[in-house]
Amino acid sequence: MKTIIEPFRIKAVEPIKMTSREQRAQYIEAAHYNLFALASENVLIDLLTDSGTSSMSAAQWAAIMRGDESYAGSPSFARFEAAVRHLMPFKYVIPTHQGRAAERILFSVAATAGQFVPNNTHFDTTRANIEALGARPVDLVIEEAQHPEREHPFKGNMDVARLAQFIEDKGPQNIPLCMLTVTNNSGGGQPVSLENMRQTKALCARHGIPLFIDACRFAENAYFIKLREPGYRDKPVVDIVREMFAQADGCTMSAKKDGLANMGGWLALNDDAWEEQCRNLLILTEGFPTYGGLAGRDLEAIAVGLEEVVDEEYLAYRFASTQYVGRHLIEGGVSIVRPVGGHAVYLDARAILPHIPPLHYPGQSLAVELYLHGGIRGCEIGTVMFGRKADGAEEPSPMELVRLAIPRRLYTQSHMDYVLEVILEVFARREQMRGMKITWQAPALRHFSAKFAYLD
Ligand code: F0G
Repeated sequence: MKTIIEPFRIKAVEPIKMTSREQRAQYIEAAHYNLFALASENVLIDLLTDSGTSSMSAAQWAAIMRGDESYAGSPSFARFEAAVRHLMPFKYVIPTHQGRAAERILFSVAATAGQFVPNNTHFDTTRANIEALGARPVDLVIEEAQHPEREHPFKGNMDVARLAQFIEDKGPQNIPLCMLTVTNNSGGGQPVSLENMRQTKALCARHGIPLFIDACRFAENAYFIKLREPGYRDKPVVDIVREMFAQADGCTMSAKKDGLANMGGWLALNDDAWEEQCRNLLILTEGFPTYGGLAGRDLEAIAVGLEEVVDEEYLAYRFASTQYVGRHLIEGGVSIVRPVGGHAVYLDARAILPHIPPLHYPGQSLAVELYLHGGIRGCEIGTVMFGRKADGAEEPSPMELVRLAIPRRLYTQSHMDYVLEVILEVFARREQMRGMKITWQAPALRHFSAKFAYLD
């Protein structure tokens, strides 16, 4: 069959409020041209994030009713822990309210000021949590990842040679742990190969550096391995997932992505001493170890979500829907990060809007235009997000992207056709678009709350 259909029926629907361009112009002006400041009901198709926005299945809703809310020893925790350890066979699983809480706990225990944490590319919360401790996050992804137009089957791979040099330069004693983000969100949702994981692990192990996986989109990464890495075509995704985590000493996870849940996360690890300290921090800020930052019902939803996310029919459909959008944009001449990532399509605003220099935020301008024209909300990942250095100076980000993240199981093919139509119409009028300036910003993670205005 040529058409890959959504492998589900829809049992509950949520209306979308239709808006006109005039209404959207008012809403976005009132939001100071920051898409995070919009009321979500004024968004037609919300591609701001794939995080916490999945539709849950009937089985997940049913499991929610089974949630046991006991403070200690809940069977919901036992089911959650078993589901996690089935895929990620680590000794300890510490539930947190979301991914960044797991990051904060891990780095508080593992890292101290002045140390370095390498990663293929740190996600912004990971980066911020490391920096908050006075340690330094370092991105060492392969060179291909810096070039949106270059094709590579595993564009999220760590540059192992640079990592080796980095460890030599800084000294392994100054590197408390190394991370691999799968898929590499900030680099375009690109996968990391098992070969690269093995090499990274072997290098880290030689220097006694633990390797942690930022596992948010582990199932999508595993599916890419199945499709693209020699020798994995006939392996069940579950086995690939287990092989991925066998290369690591622990992981941080946001269940809001490949947990198919609306909230949740965890930290999993093998080290006894770190676990004890992490557990103590968990009790201090999140909750008792058998619920962490979550309700029993959330733990149940995640346990079922973890079974559903490695279903290969689901993954085939998931992959087909992102590839569909990407392929049609490429055919329409729109520059995007290639190959298409797992959870999102990343528009290359620098290539689309060459007349807008990076410090005039071409990505922000493009993201605002998509909202104005069609009510689509995406997210700038460029100089607005990464351009301000610790000393307050502005520097162009290596890439100016607009991420259109596709929530899991939420939108249908016709929603995606509409998205394509809007992007192609905006693209046709790209020369009329103007740059922007920031009129107010917060000292850290400024993209969430900055206020913008158009340049004259
Ligand atoms: N790591 C990665 C790779 C992520 O993409 C995210 C979240 C986190 C960690 C933090 O997890 O939100 O549960 O605290 N990414 C979302 C996004 C917010 O839109 O990409 P969290």
